[in-house]
Amino acid sequence: MRIGIIGCGSIAHEIAKYRKIHAAYDVHCDKCSGIAARVCRDIDDLISSSDLVIEAASPQAVREYAMRIVSSGKYMLIMSVGGLADPNFRDELFQTAKKKGAKIYLPSGAIGGLDIIRSARVAGIEEVRIRSTKNPRAFGVDVRGRTKIFTGTAREAIERFPRSTNVTVLLSIVSGRDVLVELYADPEVDSNVHEIYIRGKFGEASITVRNVPSEDNPRTSYLAALSPVSVLDLIDSEVVAGV
Ligand SMILES: NC(=O)c1ccc[n+]([C@@H]2O[C@H](COP(=O)([O-])OP(=O)(O)OC[C@H]3O[C@@H](n4cnc5c(N)ncnc54)[C@H](O)[C@@H]3O)[C@@H](O)[C@H]2O)c1
Repeated sequence: MRIGIIGCGSIAHEIAKYRKIHAAYDVHCDKCSGIAARVCRDIDDLISSSDLVIEAASPQAVREYAMRIVSSGKYMLIMSVGGLADPNFRDELFQTAKKKGAKIYLPSGAIGGLDIIRSARVAGIEEVRIRSTKNPRAFGVDVRGRTKIFTGTAREAIERFPRSTNVTVLLSIVSGRDVLVELYADPEVDSNVHEIYIRGKFGEASITVRNVPSEDNPRTSYLAALSPVSVLDLIDSEVVAGV
């Protein structure tokens, strides 16, 4: 399977350590060096050079390119899940994938517990909440002590903090509800901490993930950069365990 990638930043560089990337496209083409043998001049060039396109660029890139990729019947793996926050756009994209025989993969990224949410949803979920705590520079805010900077729904969160709240939209998609989000900026914290609470017919679960940030991008958790590699492993594997 020829893997193509949009966006050659910290996630792309991590993926390239584990997987051969056939083609790459970035608005700044110099960033593609060292990622892929083939540097594409535009998105159409990338689509025709790939069987699976990984988006690791921005929510804007998802809105701009996803429909074209999926319409071509290609597989797509989306990291900037925030680009799917608009339910109308999301439904249209998912319907197009169905019609064209494409597949869309949304990796677990910086969080865990999505397996529980998927199973719980079968019988009914009553509540899903996420509290994320990051260093203020990851949110682009300036605060002195631990400060709650946002309370609201996932859709509102991604509008205010499009680069730092992809996981809240992912939680909404997997749970089927616009989840409640609290964001804290804490100058004392160096890790990206996600605390997730789920309650449903199955019982309840609390999951805390304390992520080490990527070396070259404090907004991106190292685990998030590893998650697409694990998805690629699953696609290739005859045994699909732990999903
Ligand atoms: N799902 C998750 O859990 C999760 C976690 C971390 C990051 N992310 C998202 O993944 C994406 C990539 O993260 P990163 O840390 O590698 O970012 P990065 O800033 O290190 O790299 C992004 C690259 O994409 C390029 N780019 C941006 N917009 C583009 C466009 N429209 N077309 C082509 N290239 C474009 C930039 O030039 C840059 O080189 C971000 O949107 C980030 O929010 C998701």
